Amino acid sequence: MELNPTKNPKSPRPPAASVRRLREAMEKASAGGGKPRLDAQKARGKFTARERIHYLLDEGSFQELDLLVGTRAADFGLKDKEIPGDGVITGFGQVGGREVCVYAQDFTVLGGSLGMAHAQKICKIMDLAYENRVPVIGLLDSGGARIQEGVDSLDGYAEIFYRNVKCSGVIPQISVILGPCAGGAVYSPALTDFVFMVDGISHMFVTGPDVVRAATGEEVSFDGLGGSEAHAGKSGVCHFVAKSEPDCFRQVRELVSYLPQSRWEKPPRVANPDPIRRSVPLLEKMCDLDPRRPYRIHHIIWQIADEHKFFEVQSIYAKNIVTGFCRMGGEVVGVVANNPAHLAGALDINASDKAARFIRMLNAFNIPVLTLVDVPGYWPGVQQEHGGIIRHGAKILHAYAEATVPKITVILRKAYGGAYIAMSSKHMRGDFNFALPCAEIAVMGPAGAIEILYSRELKACKTDEERAALRAKLTAEYAAKFASPYQTASTGSIDEVIEPSQLRHKVARALRFLKEKRVAGSHENRGNIPL
Ligand code: HXC
Repeated sequence: MELNPTKNPKSPRPPAASVRRLREAMEKASAGGGKPRLDAQKARGKFTARERIHYLLDEGSFQELDLLVGTRAADFGLKDKEIPGDGVITGFGQVGGREVCVYAQDFTVLGGSLGMAHAQKICKIMDLAYENRVPVIGLLDSGGARIQEGVDSLDGYAEIFYRNVKCSGVIPQISVILGPCAGGAVYSPALTDFVFMVDGISHMFVTGPDVVRAATGEEVSFDGLGGSEAHAGKSGVCHFVAKSEPDCFRQVRELVSYLPQSRWEKPPRVANPDPIRRSVPLLEKMCDLDPRRPYRIHHIIWQIADEHKFFEVQSIYAKNIVTGFCRMGGEVVGVVANNPAHLAGALDINASDKAARFIRMLNAFNIPVLTLVDVPGYWPGVQQEHGGIIRHGAKILHAYAEATVPKITVILRKAYGGAYIAMSSKHMRGDFNFALPCAEIAVMGPAGAIEILYSRELKACKTDEERAALRAKLTAEYAAKFASPYQTASTGSIDEVIEPSQLRHKVARALRFLKEKRVAGSHENRGNIPL
């Protein structure tokens, strides 16, 4: 890859001395931490910082800034060291023809550690992104605070964190972890909207395995503690995992294609070759399903999305709720869907956090929400209660009630109790609430309800057979009255009971109608606090 675009071997006459001097300075600054360290980076299967920018951005679009900035610190031998660009490359470029600001930490230069000049370069790029209303993408590969620069390094982090919060919900912020990310350094990614990690290359932790061993006696590897699997599946810190760096940059580019440049824009519309009137015959089977039978909600989403494409966010975390982006009629939609294949699609602590943060991000960036409901309730248990399901579950209620973007809800099958309310019900201000004819909407499921309503009558039965017969009769009566969408439709809490095969058309049509939705006071800042 050509590192110095100013070099032109076919130049007809030798450049002036001042131009030569500039070229030499740029070449030196571009050389990173030198060949041995660049080789070591490669030997670990990692790209160099410059290669990463090359893969991320549209060909030839990168404009570097502050290449010639060096460290001003001198202690602990720093004054005698070459520190090109102070260990970070910053600038702007394009993704899919749209501007973004970008920084890439260079692990070959003092381990990509963050000193004051390094931090100032990142802050400058964040300020540019904020003022020019474009996303900022950070490529992180760093040993953390530069030890030699002492508290200056910590102050540098503080400046970045401050800007992360200022930019929150204003411009999309994306963090790509491509090496170590240790100590307080993990908090900048955690404050951004999306975190990417690459299998075997990315690690995030507040304290590493050695400190963990010393403090708690636990033995754990780097991967086990802070690898992509740990953060995508267990902690929920990471939104996307990639198999390799090229795969990672492909995913980042895809994510950007769904996002607006800032909160003042709508997400980009694309030409849609997939007719919105396309009927979805496969969905007819929905209403033949045994109500207790699990299924993967992805099958429904793929059926109704434009060209069957769904870009899932946090696919490994809290699988009982599915979040992600698709397009309908060419317009970007955020999907929040219960997934009966895991925990019967019930809402637990992790699902509540995952959905609530996703909804708040959608609301910040003017992306409509499509909610697909098949939920038996909040997940019961001592662990959930003591873990704070009340507090966490309330986040979904807050996120939906606060969201002023278009909200379309479809009840596919079950919608019981508090979870019915939480999943963007009409009285939580869903704009259009649809239900399939097989939807069951009630305070609770028939089996539980009759045990409470008719406990005396059931106890009074003389034989088990008599009790079973009464139970079956009462269940059928309850189901006929409540376990259908018609009572709810009769009060207007469901706008329309729709044929399953019409689902795509109904949602796309509703989205088109809601395109110019305006709610008074909805344009104040909507920060995307990590939940
Ligand atoms: C200065 C650092 C550095 C740091 C690494 N280097 N981390 N220099 N400050 N924080 C330098 C090394 O001296 C070495 O320089 C080069 O980077 C590569 O480091 P190695 O250790 O040889 O690499 P590796 O074996 O891959 O180990 C990588 C590592 C390890 C796991 C990141 O370097 C490490 O543990 N570093 C310290 C991590 C840490 O504790 N950071 C502070 C966290 S606290 P040469 O010249 O030999 O190439 C923190 C607070 C932030 O960040 C607070 C924010 C609020």
